[in-house]
Amino acid sequence: MKVSFVDLALPTEGAVVFLVEKDSPLTGLAAEADSSCGGALSKAKDVSRFTGASGQTQEIVAPAGLDVERALLVGVGKSADNKETDWLEIGAKAVSALSMSGSTDATIIVDLETADAVHVAEGALLRDYRFDRYRTKEPAAKKPTLGSMAIATADTNAVEAFEARAMVADGVFMTRDLISEPANILYPESFAERIKGLTDLGVDVEVLGEAEMEKLGMGSLLSVGQGSEKESQLVVMRWNGADKDEQPVAFVGKGVTFDTGGISLKPGEGMEQMKWDMGGAGTVVGLMKALAGRKAKVNVVATVGLVENMPSGNASRPGDVVTSMSGQTIEILNTDAEGRLVLADAIWYTKETYKPKFIIDLATLTGAIIISLGHEHAGIFTGDDDLAAQLTKAGLETGDKVWRLPLHKNYDKLIDCPIADMKNIGGRAAGSITAAQFLQRFTGETPWVHIDIAAMVWSEKDLPLCEKGGTGYGVRLLDRMVADNYES
Ligand code: BES
Ligand code: MN
Ligand code: ZN
Repeated sequence: MKVSFVDLALPTEGAVVFLVEKDSPLTGLAAEADSSCGGALSKAKDVSRFTGASGQTQEIVAPAGLDVERALLVGVGKSADNKETDWLEIGAKAVSALSMSGSTDATIIVDLETADAVHVAEGALLRDYRFDRYRTKEPAAKKPTLGSMAIATADTNAVEAFEARAMVADGVFMTRDLISEPANILYPESFAERIKGLTDLGVDVEVLGEAEMEKLGMGSLLSVGQGSEKESQLVVMRWNGADKDEQPVAFVGKGVTFDTGGISLKPGEGMEQMKWDMGGAGTVVGLMKALAGRKAKVNVVATVGLVENMPSGNASRPGDVVTSMSGQTIEILNTDAEGRLVLADAIWYTKETYKPKFIIDLATLTGAIIISLGHEHAGIFTGDDDLAAQLTKAGLETGDKVWRLPLHKNYDKLIDCPIADMKNIGGRAAGSITAAQFLQRFTGETPWVHIDIAAMVWSEKDLPLCEKGGTGYGVRLLDRMVADNYES
């Protein structure tokens, strides 16, 4: 969908969207349009149960006296109290209400004084995404009709401010695409190929294969992919938007392109979901696209460990001991706790090679985080109060919310092991925390945050800003965290 900005005026075709304050009569251009159609809009409002409460909609089809095909009233609540996320959701609501309506063009009239046209536009853009690459026989009647959305506003700075937002949305869309792709299409090497596409935006991309990782001693990461026919890959992306001697910030993503559990095989039901076990990597890649797209003034290094976790005659067994690049040894007690094995080497490599200001890793690491926090917040784990505060704030602003969970030496003891330096599972209790404690052992002195996004990358139902499917969670969170704290 094409999003554009136009002068404040009533459109003469397509659909028109009016934002309506709660418990208030129509104002501005809505009132003007209402009198042109003999009060049909206010009448529709009065005879339906439309109060202007946030998120409410009321459609008026073919209003006589107006040139448009339809008018849509969207409630904005008490607009003076609205935050960024409210305006995003209002823009998104207009799209979800109109995308299948039959109209191909729509105009949102943003003439309430407190409304933010850029956020409305961004919300509309984010909500328009759809993954339909493999629906070859979908009847035309089931396809969305909406092709363009104009935002009518008096805000003359909106066009420029929106440019960066649109770049970030492109990053979100790339993440959603990656998450939605099936594992026969997206496997470590094909994933690495897609990442190479970022070179067009000025991102440096380096791909390490199994031979190189073996040389580096990444026995932990490599053990996860050894049962797969697909070659494991470690991809390092670099964006240099600041002075060349400015220390970079670093992001690391878990990219298990399919997680069967390995020899500790998962049950069959729902296993198809494990195609999105590369969600951490998908988020990191989308973030790099966003940052490079809007030419962020920051140096960033992003590393993704891409592997497929399969059972086979060559797969690792429960009880195997592997040596990580850090030299620390790990007893693999459950081959399904594989994400931490991948991240152990990816984090260590990133820290040693790039000496970043901080490392943030993202991973669909534990089912337990879904039990703890549901699908509202990702779990964050860190010893660094400043990083936790920055992420919490960025989460509230963007709507990609996070909630901090504890780390403590007593949890760390749960992964001590009699035959190696550590084991890869800590028992039933506090499963997300013991997973984080495991990762912490590979971070050294570098400030670090682990974000467990297992509950966030995929949604089984439509959400305000995206249709059922891959959400793109985390791209806007980290883009904002970087923008607010690390750009020169
Ligand atoms: N990829 C899974 C975690 C997961 C589960 C993500 C459900 C999304 C939805 C991870 O590799 C895993 O299997 N974790 C195990 C750890 C356990 C064996 C200690 C889990 O959560 O059950
Ligand atoms: Mn697993
Ligand atoms: Zn996994």
